[in-house]
Amino acid sequence: MKLVYFTVTGQTRRFIKKLDLPAYEIEPANPFFEINEPFILIVPTYDEDITEVINDFLDHKSNHKQLVGVAGGGNRNFADLFIYTAKDIARDYDVPLLFAFEFSGTNEDVESFKKVVNELESKRN
Ligand SMILES: Cc1cc2nc3c(=O)[nH]c(=O)nc-3n(C[C@H](O)[C@H](O)[C@H](O)COP(=O)(O)O)c2cc1C
Repeated sequence: MKLVYFTVTGQTRRFIKKLDLPAYEIEPANPFFEINEPFILIVPTYDEDITEVINDFLDHKSNHKQLVGVAGGGNRNFADLFIYTAKDIARDYDVPLLFAFEFSGTNEDVESFKKVVNELESKRN
């Protein structure tokens, strides 16, 4: 399963690198890339003006049809607003919210998320 992620300050990229799985980073300068395979989206949490490129990517061609689920990175100090970007995408695109982590994730987060990815893959095969 492909991972597609977005990052502003690099925390999400660090989380992704620790997973050692195939991944594509959404480029803010050109989010109009067609993915053509099922993917899990991993996004940090920011105001909509920053995250709208994620929607640009999802709304490009049939990308949203390949979206299997979404994971959110954030900061629990934001309390009720923790990972709201991922929650909004899960709601708007009608896919499950698969996982939540802070910053670049702990080693435990890495192992837990890998299990989530593996389980999804085995269900789909
Ligand atoms: C301006 C700003 C606003 C943020 N707002 C939220 C928020 O509402 N909820 C949340 O969970 N995290 C929030 N965060 C935390 C980031 O989502 C978090 O640090 C994330 O790991 C950053 O990922 P990135 O380095 O890949 O961009 C905010 C961070 C900044 C700098």
